[in-house]
Amino acid sequence: MKILAVMGSPRVRGNTDTLLDSAIEGARQAGAEVDKVLLNDLPGEVCTGFFSCARAAYCVKHPHVNKLIDKLKQSDGIILATSVWWFSVSTSMKAFMDHWICLCDPETWSSRVPGKKVGLIAVCAMPKERGVSDEVLDHMQRICEWLSLKVVDRLPVEGVNMKGEVVNYPDLMERASLLGQRVARACAGEPAMINAHHTDSA
Ligand SMILES: Cc1cc2nc3c(=O)[nH]c(=O)nc-3n(C[C@H](O)[C@H](O)[C@H](O)COP(=O)(O)O)c2cc1C
Repeated sequence: MKILAVMGSPRVRGNTDTLLDSAIEGARQAGAEVDKVLLNDLPGEVCTGFFSCARAAYCVKHPHVNKLIDKLKQSDGIILATSVWWFSVSTSMKAFMDHWICLCDPETWSSRVPGKKVGLIAVCAMPKERGVSDEVLDHMQRICEWLSLKVVDRLPVEGVNMKGEVVNYPDLMERASLLGQRVARACAGEPAMINAHHTDSA
């Protein structure tokens, strides 16, 4: 089984990257083949709302985008990890998800990639009481569900700001690993162990 792991923070070895690596390790331990992509390594081609992509099922304007869209199409599962920027996903994660419009059939708005299993990670600096990461995960989950993708786990992370400081929280690292394992197991056909709307927050 193949999992695409998408790193949506520009800060390499930052908190999002570190947690994603832990999730990848967990997924590999559970038997998945994982392909990690750093969105910031890719040309920053934003959706121009051309809409021909919805008919074509690929981005007609930006060839580079299609390499990533193809990886997504070929995967059984996806792990999306983003830093929180202004109460939302990062710019690169938003740009990537905007391109998902080519995954919708424009006649019915049904999904061309239904059933893929998804794990979501959002990382922010504000304290847990504000619930910011959970709000961002709700937003990402809504997009996934529109495309009939199945969110099997989500990890809201709050209160981390300095580059890579999340390594000082072994419970969070362990929780990220568990998310990776859960996505891999879901891809292998095991029933989801949790309701993704109410995961045990680390
Ligand atoms: C442009 C920008 C906007 C941000 N907006 C928020 C925000 O709205 N809420 C928050 O809690 N943290 C915000 N942060 C802080 C980051 O989410 C935080 O530093 C996080 O740990 C970054 O993860 P990273 O190390 O993976 O980049 C913002 C950071 C940047 C650079």
